[in-house]
Amino acid sequence: MTATPAGTAVDMFRMDGRACIVTGASSGLGARFAEVLHAAGAIVVLAARRRERLDDLASRLDRAVAVECDVASEADRARLVATAERECGRVDVLVNNAGVSQMVRMERESLEQWEETFAVNVTAVHRLALLAGAGMLERGSGVVVNVASMYGFVARWDIPGAASYAATKAAVVNLTRELGAQWARRGVRVNGLAPGYFPSEMTGDGLDDSRFRDRLDRRCPAGRPGRPHELDGALLFLASDASSYMVGQTIVVDGGWTAV
Ligand SMILES: NC(=O)c1ccc[n+]([C@@H]2O[C@H](COP(=O)([O-])OP(=O)(O)OC[C@H]3O[C@@H](n4cnc5c(N)ncnc54)[C@H](OP(=O)(O)O)[C@@H]3O)[C@@H](O)[C@H]2O)c1
Repeated sequence: MTATPAGTAVDMFRMDGRACIVTGASSGLGARFAEVLHAAGAIVVLAARRRERLDDLASRLDRAVAVECDVASEADRARLVATAERECGRVDVLVNNAGVSQMVRMERESLEQWEETFAVNVTAVHRLALLAGAGMLERGSGVVVNVASMYGFVARWDIPGAASYAATKAAVVNLTRELGAQWARRGVRVNGLAPGYFPSEMTGDGLDDSRFRDRLDRRCPAGRPGRPHELDGALLFLASDASSYMVGQTIVVDGGWTAV
């Protein structure tokens, strides 16, 4: 078995010509992930409900397709994958990033809120993996990156919120193991990324609130939330050939939150 020369290690992170779907690309982490993959050479398919946000991002990238899509709808999910396959010829990478978190205390979460969270955070992740995965399995190559959360590993008791968020993110962590293990020998790799607190629409109100921010800084070993660029390396590692022997794992990038 020959190894590639060590001097070419950086090249393994290149994404030239790879077609990557990024869901939830209209804001926050998803918009950043799309820009990072594009900067590494990828063609990016931007998906979310807010079309004008996608068009705005697409207008700044020379290899981008915007697809309005509600990931909770099976028809929209199928249309997203079909559009990506038609426009790009195939889907090389699926980044399942779209997610919701109900801003309500656990005892007040309604059944509708619980079900919406599962529809977006779990069902959509699974169904999109199957839809995009079909072509990947046929070709014997492809990558799925599922965006979980550090709250897929620990409870959110110290900064309370709806229980559905942590429940769905734990489901994503084990769904990632299951898909990864079942597809590894067929050339399709599935891994996950579990961020701690990063600035986005989801976390904006909290991070702007001085009491919340103070609790976060005291609780987090790094003493601060993540900065927007501090997931770039992990995302690119997971999406590219650099992680070719990694299967079913979820990388936690949380300033040490789950380490203590
Ligand atoms: N920021 C953090 O600290 C943090 C930490 C851990 C994990 N995460 C995870 O990272 C991912 C991105 O979150 P974010 O922090 O970047 O939050 P955000 O700024 O609120 O972004 C969420 C994205 O998901 C999309 N989305 C929500 N529901 C959707 C639906 N039904 N169909 C299609 N798209 C939908 C939104 O787009 P539209 O509204 O335009 O549809 C938006 O682009 C989520 O999975 C989240 O759980 C974030």
